[in-house]
Amino acid sequence: MVNILIYHSYKELSRAAAEEIASQIQRKADSVLGLATGGTPEGVYDELIDIHKRQNLSFRSVVTFNLDEYVGLGSDDPNSYRYYMTKRLFSHIDIPKDQYFLPDGTNENLLQECEDYEKLITSRGGIDLQLLGIGHNGHIGFNEPGTPFSTKTHTVTLKQQTIEANSRYFHTIEDVPKQAITMGIESILNSKRIILLASGKKKASAVKRLIEGTVDESFPASALHLHPNTTIFIDRDAASLLDD
Ligand code: F6R
Repeated sequence: MVNILIYHSYKELSRAAAEEIASQIQRKADSVLGLATGGTPEGVYDELIDIHKRQNLSFRSVVTFNLDEYVGLGSDDPNSYRYYMTKRLFSHIDIPKDQYFLPDGTNENLLQECEDYEKLITSRGGIDLQLLGIGHNGHIGFNEPGTPFSTKTHTVTLKQQTIEANSRYFHTIEDVPKQAITMGIESILNSKRIILLASGKKKASAVKRLIEGTVDESFPASALHLHPNTTIFIDRDAASLLDD
């Protein structure tokens, strides 16, 4: 069962999702948040910084875990997700440096890295609120179509469609890493609450399949129907193909 909220604009959607996250932190100062990168959550991070600055929302006790990271990119690489998160959110709020985590894509032992990441999430009490975007093919995190719903944090080889979609951030398509570490579908479903964001016409068919389609491993985001507390925040463009 998923709840659906439709907003007029990307700006309104971003503000509403940020307010949801802020009230989670107000209810529980030491909330554990699951975070995503990509274009969609940028507005949410801007709004969270605004709430932090104007309304003194503190992240001092918050712990965060990002969904994924490219294999081979270190923290000083502008295309790494650690770099993105630092630039877009962490450097603007009061979260201590030892309270935000991303998988380490430079670890030579990737299997160990995945196992340790999963254990770390569990040791912090699990994720209270997980933020997600959605790929055109229904991927969540880097869980591509066909990923079993029972997967925990693991290493993946990216599909060509995902490499192409993400190449907009790189000089050339050849620079896009071929592998990534991602929380698995089961790791995501273990979160107590999930918010999925989708904005724009380009996401309309994925949103339609998510909301009106069947639960099927060929469309990873459909696993969210198995979760007890998921809300989908979409704007009018992303909702434009939905049946009335
Ligand atoms: C990012 C992530 C991805 C993105 C998805 C949508 O951490 O896990 O699943 O959420 O690729 O990306 P955007 O928002 O750029 O359309």
